[in-house]
Amino acid sequence: MSIPKKRPSQAGPGTSHYFDPAPAVRSKPRSVFLHLGELDLKLQADRGVFGSRGVDLGTLVLLREAPAPPVAGDILDLGSGYGAIAIALARQAPEARIWAVDVNERALELTRANALSAGTANVTAGLPDEVPGGLQFAAIYSNPPVRVGKAPLHELLLRWLPRLEPGGSAYLVVLRNLGSDSLAAWLATQGYDVRRLKSKKGYRILEVRAP
Ligand SMILES: C[S@@+](CC[C@H](N)C(=O)[O-])C[C@H]1O[C@@H](n2cnc3c(N)ncnc32)[C@H](O)[C@@H]1O
Repeated sequence: MSIPKKRPSQAGPGTSHYFDPAPAVRSKPRSVFLHLGELDLKLQADRGVFGSRGVDLGTLVLLREAPAPPVAGDILDLGSGYGAIAIALARQAPEARIWAVDVNERALELTRANALSAGTANVTAGLPDEVPGGLQFAAIYSNPPVRVGKAPLHELLLRWLPRLEPGGSAYLVVLRNLGSDSLAAWLATQGYDVRRLKSKKGYRILEVRAP
C-alpha cells in the first residue's frame, strides 16, 4: 500500500482528523502512560489528537530504536501530538531545547501541559510559523502525519528537513504498509542520504541526512 492521496480538505462533512487545527470532536481527556527504560510518564491525551487511546506503537519503536538525541542544541519533534516524543527527548537531553511543532491546537495545549507536569521546561510547543525562521536543528525526530496524503507530507518534509544543521540527522518512523519504502525512495530523489535504520513490528525507522 502506498501513502494515501486523499487531502484533509476532501474529507466528508463532519469528519474529524487528528491533524485538524481545531478538532471538531468533543474533548474527553484521558491519561496514557509512556514507559521507556527508566522513564515512566503519565501524559494527558484527548479525542481529536493522535494516539488518544495510548502511546502509538510507532512512537514507541522510534523512541526505543533511534539514537539518543544530541545533548545540546535545538531538536525538532515534527508533529508532536500531545508531546510523547518531545518530552522523552527533553528528559534524555535536559540541556537541549526541544521544539514541539503541530498544527492541532488541542495537541499543542496538551504538549504544554504534559511538559509542565513532566518537569521538562526545555520543551517549546507551537505552530509551525511560531518557530524562529533562522533556527536550525541538530536533529529531527518524527512520527510524521502520513495520513495527510502524499503531496502534503512531501511538502511538510521539504519545509523542515532543509533546516537540519550540517551533519544532523532526522529519524522518521513510518509503517511499512503506509509507504515507508516509497517515502525513502522519494527522499533519495530529493538528494537526501536515506538509510533504513531499523525495521520492527511493521515499522521502519528512516535515518535521513542532509545532502
Ligand atoms: C502521527 S501523529 C504523531 C503525534 C506524536 N508525535 C506521537 O508520536 O504521538 C502526526 C502529527 O503531525 C501533526 N501534523 C499534521 N500536519 C502537520 C503540519 N503541517 N505541521 C506540523 N504538524 C503536523 C498532526 O496533527 C499529528 O499530531
